[in-house]
Amino acid sequence: MSTIQVLPPKVAERIAAGEVVERPASVVKELIENALDAGAKAVRVEVTGGGVDLVRVSDDGCGMGRADVPLALKRFSTSKIRSVADLEAIHTLGFRGEALAAIAAVARVAILTRTAEELEGSRLTAVGPEVTVEPAASPAGCSVAVNDLFYNTPARRKFLKSPQRETELCQQTVLRYALAFPQVAFSLAVDGRERLVAPPASLLERAALAVGREAAGEMLPISWEAGDLRVHGLIGSPAVGRGRRDRQFFALNHRPIRSGLLAVMLERPYAGRLPPGRYPLAVVNVELDPAWVDVNVHPRKAEVRFAQERAIYQAVSQAVSAALAPFPVQEMLGTPGWPFPEVPLAPLLVAEGREMYDVRGRVEALGQVHNTYIVAHTPDGLVVVDQHAAHEAILTERLLAGGETVPLSSPVRLDLTIREAELLGAHLGLFADLGMDLEPFGGNSYLARALPAPLARERVGPLPLSPLLEELLEELAANRGLDPEPLRVKLAEKAACRAAVKAGDLLSIEQQQVLLDDLLAAWSPSTCPHGRPALFVLTVEEMERRFLRR
Ligand SMILES: Nc1ncnc2c1ncn2[C@@H]1O[C@H](COP(=O)(O)OP(=O)(O)OP(=O)(O)O)[C@@H](O)[C@H]1O
Ligand SMILES: [Mg+2]
Repeated sequence: MSTIQVLPPKVAERIAAGEVVERPASVVKELIENALDAGAKAVRVEVTGGGVDLVRVSDDGCGMGRADVPLALKRFSTSKIRSVADLEAIHTLGFRGEALAAIAAVARVAILTRTAEELEGSRLTAVGPEVTVEPAASPAGCSVAVNDLFYNTPARRKFLKSPQRETELCQQTVLRYALAFPQVAFSLAVDGRERLVAPPASLLERAALAVGREAAGEMLPISWEAGDLRVHGLIGSPAVGRGRRDRQFFALNHRPIRSGLLAVMLERPYAGRLPPGRYPLAVVNVELDPAWVDVNVHPRKAEVRFAQERAIYQAVSQAVSAALAPFPVQEMLGTPGWPFPEVPLAPLLVAEGREMYDVRGRVEALGQVHNTYIVAHTPDGLVVVDQHAAHEAILTERLLAGGETVPLSSPVRLDLTIREAELLGAHLGLFADLGMDLEPFGGNSYLARALPAPLARERVGPLPLSPLLEELLEELAANRGLDPEPLRVKLAEKAACRAAVKAGDLLSIEQQQVLLDDLLAAWSPSTCPHGRPALFVLTVEEMERRFLRR
């Protein structure tokens, strides 16, 4: 790679800069991107203490020469672009020369690096503004260690989730890049233990890491090409669907991206093949001329803008349709209805090695009592489920698990009172954590741009947002003294309560079955601590006792 230069102001001011470091997973992302841009064939990631104590990424890429090392931490210093024209067609994952500077601003950074040409490498140590560079022995390549994240901004630490959750997010980040770069070896160690060892592999082998061996065996290759535009990858057959979109991976020119619209395009051809509420597995790469893509719209590059959007979406849909052609369409599977726009008519399982899944499909809804309780047959008797409590628990679980948000088709403006606006302003991070994308819109107004998938999905029509937000703010006001995590749980519960089916709602037998299946899927003694009990079991043994049969 050529040498690092500080970008002239003309270029720098065109860059969508901002907070790049939100959490440990952001550090993992930026460091992996740098390693890949450096041409690494192997990337090693180490995460300790949820990534707050340490994130280290080591690679065997081109490394940095002695003269370049001190520049790496400077803002807008990059070896990847030189001019405004370069911004028009980005060929690397990084281009702003911002990431390392932003990381060094909130953590202690140590870099050990050597180029292949040099005999001796360099060690850089940065604590705040103090940067030292000294000669040091180093393998060819680069290793960047980031310690004590947010040590100097303790308020930002408060917005972090539990170390386990942060670790999980780091792991997901590694996985996304491993899927986008199957030819590169990846490994991940968490708290000193190996979590992932992925030698260079085919896409199918990589996909197995993400969806499991069994499901990977049910994946179908897709491939579609027209001019500069190429769509290729793997999609799950209709035999393997999931209750969430968490096993859909998209990459654009090898840059992992999230895109609600791409997900919709992927899912469209599954209509009538996969029951509503089941989402296909997918690892999809879109490749096109970089001039068509603007990655410079979002400070974390979390969003990209495409010219030719339609062409891309159509290409994805067509690639998927072609692969699904052999699978018959069942009309009845395509008609969702409130309150479960996604009613699976038969339980489709993805083997997860969890015991509760074994029961799924053997718990059979028999009917509703007082439109409030669902009675179901189980292998050892019957179960009575409180439909509201159960749905609430499912939604709470999904909200707390975080992840996907769904953009609103048009942003909704929310006019608040001064007090509400202040309260919201002080807790925006908390709402963002739950997947509610709210942004200040002048005065006491906010603009809602996206909703967490569990809320967006349960509704067919527009969700009445203001009453929901009002209630959440009330809940917030009532619980101000709580720590962020319990507060987040409170808000998730409140939102789930509003979105859940109510006592008295008439449910079809299919809808009852979905609720039971979802409940069992979400159920584990450790993950369902919220609220009232959602069910009780009446065993055959108990019945026999009552009827004096034993
Ligand atoms: N692992 C690495 N191997 C070799 N050079 C690296 C590595 N990491 C960083 N560098 C050098 O340091 C420079 C600054 O990295 P930094 O991540 O801050 O910016 P960038 O990658 O150019 O842009 P962005 O801010 O978009 O990530 C890079 O342009 C590159 O020259
Ligand atoms: Mg970078």
